[in-house]
Amino acid sequence: MNRLYNALQLKRLYQLKQMGFAYTPLVQPKQATTTTLPDSLDALREMVKQCQLCALSKTRTKAVFGEGNPHTPLMFVGEGPGASEDLSGRPFVGRAGELLTRMIENVLEIPRSEIYIANIVKCRPPNNRVPTPEEAHTCLPYLQKQIALIRPRIIVALGATAYHYLTGDKKGITKVRGRLIEMDGYKLLPTYHPSYLLRNPSAKKEAYHDMLLVKELL
Ligand code: URA
Repeated sequence: MNRLYNALQLKRLYQLKQMGFAYTPLVQPKQATTTTLPDSLDALREMVKQCQLCALSKTRTKAVFGEGNPHTPLMFVGEGPGASEDLSGRPFVGRAGELLTRMIENVLEIPRSEIYIANIVKCRPPNNRVPTPEEAHTCLPYLQKQIALIRPRIIVALGATAYHYLTGDKKGITKVRGRLIEMDGYKLLPTYHPSYLLRNPSAKKEAYHDMLLVKELL
């Protein structure tokens, strides 16, 4: 939450500067309750739609909040929106999204609308580059709040970026995929990102086994 607080403070200072202020009294250090995010997904979505806390907001078409059943026991977390997601405002609707949908509907045998899908960053990184640590950490409180509100039992981390920012662990995805991790309040299963699977179809077998493990846990 510190990053979000700092980004909000910085934004306020820029606003004051634009209004002509050359000096502001010392900003008080963060109090436990100063930065709170809304306690409803709808209000949080509105906040994300208007977010300008990092440079990605300047190049996005639409922020991609996430979608699905807010009462689901299962969440999928990807890296960040691509071109199709940026245009539509919905997560995983491009080619990688079609594959993810097949994994959910054909292997788990549940409609995609029954689970929840979100990303580490809500706005598209230009040219689909990996989000910078600054961008990811600034955006992360939104995802953490989504997780806190949805309270899934299982989260599938799609790829290294999702795994890294959800756990803080920098190990490569090939090292950790398929290994269930006990997190605070949920189980995390890292697996390959669908974009990786499109480029490396031979890895689909492992992703299939990961989905079977999810099915078993459900
Ligand atoms: N890749 C992601 O990580 N997320 C999306 O929403 C789409 C593609």
